[in-house]
Amino acid sequence: MVTLNRTTAAAPPLGMTELDDRTFAEYQRLMYERVGIVLNDNKKALVQSRVRKRLRALGLDCYVDYLRELDKDKSGREMVHLIDAISTNVTHFFREEDHFKFIKRIVDEWVAAGRRKLRFWSAACSTGEEPYSLAMTLLSQCDMAGVDVKILATDISTRVLGIADKGNYRAELLRTVPTPLRHRYFTKEDGGVSYTVGKELRDLVKFHRLNLIKRPLPVQAQFDFILCRNVMIYFDRPTRHQLALEFHRLLAPDSYLVTGHAETLIGIRDEYEYVQPSVHRRLDKREKR
Ligand SMILES: C[S@@+](CC[C@H](N)C(=O)[O-])C[C@H]1O[C@@H](n2cnc3c(N)ncnc32)[C@H](O)[C@@H]1O
Repeated sequence: MVTLNRTTAAAPPLGMTELDDRTFAEYQRLMYERVGIVLNDNKKALVQSRVRKRLRALGLDCYVDYLRELDKDKSGREMVHLIDAISTNVTHFFREEDHFKFIKRIVDEWVAAGRRKLRFWSAACSTGEEPYSLAMTLLSQCDMAGVDVKILATDISTRVLGIADKGNYRAELLRTVPTPLRHRYFTKEDGGVSYTVGKELRDLVKFHRLNLIKRPLPVQAQFDFILCRNVMIYFDRPTRHQLALEFHRLLAPDSYLVTGHAETLIGIRDEYEYVQPSVHRRLDKREKR
C-alpha cells in the first residue's frame, strides 16, 4: 500500500513536464519498498521521461496523479507498467556464455556420478532467453537420458513473462543462437520473420511471477543451480545480502549460485565459495569458514 506523505499529496498539480523533487522521492520510495529497486537521485530525468509516456497513455496530467493510480490499483498491473518503464528487461540468448559452459561441465560430472534429478531456477528471467538457453545447453550438450530435469523461470513483470511463455522471437533476437540449435529447437514463422520455441524446450521450463524481495521467497524446491543475473545490480547491499541468504536456504548441498558479471557477493563469503567470476558454490554449515 502506498501512502502519499502529506506534503506531496497536498502539492498542487504539476505540469506533465516537471517531476518535482518531493514527488520523485515518492517514486524512489515506492520502487524500493515494492520491488527493491534503488533509484538514485541521478535517475530523476529518466523517471520523468519514462513515466511521462505512461501519463500520456492514461490521460493523466501530473506525476502525483499517477502515484494515486498506483495506490488504487490492487491488481498490481499498473505497478508492472512502472517497473517495465523504469527497469531494463534487456537480455539475449546465451548472454554471458561462460556460465552455460560452466553449467555443462558440472552437469556432465553430476550425471556421470549417477545424479538423476536436477533442478534449475532462472530468477529474473525477463523475456525467457535465459531459461531457454539453459534448456538448449542441457538438451544439446549434456547426456540427459533418464534425468528428471526442470527449470523454474520467474520474473516480477507479467509483461515479460507473457512474452517468455509465448516463446516467439523476431529472427534478429536469435542471432546468438547457433544455427543447428535454431533448427532443432525453434519453428520458423512467416518465412523466417520470427521463430517460436518448440515443445522440447517448452516442456522443460515453467514460468511464474515472483518478486525477489518477498521474504521468505515463496518457492518450494531445492535447486542445483540458481541463476540470478543482472537484476541484483538494481538492489542495495542489504537487499542483495538477504537475497543471497534466501538463495542459500533454497539451494541443495553442493550447488551453485550464478550472478551477472557486474554483480558481486561481497560480505557473504561465509555462505558461498568463489569458483570463478560470478559463480559461487554453496557452502553448507560444516564447510562455513
Ligand atoms: C536485465 S533483466 C535480466 C534478465 C536475465 N536474467 C539476463 O541476465 O539476461 C532484469 C529483470 O529483472 C526483473 N526484476 C526487477 N526487479 C525484480 C524483482 N524485485 N523481482 C523479480 N524480478 C525483478 C525485471 O522485470 C527484468 O526482467
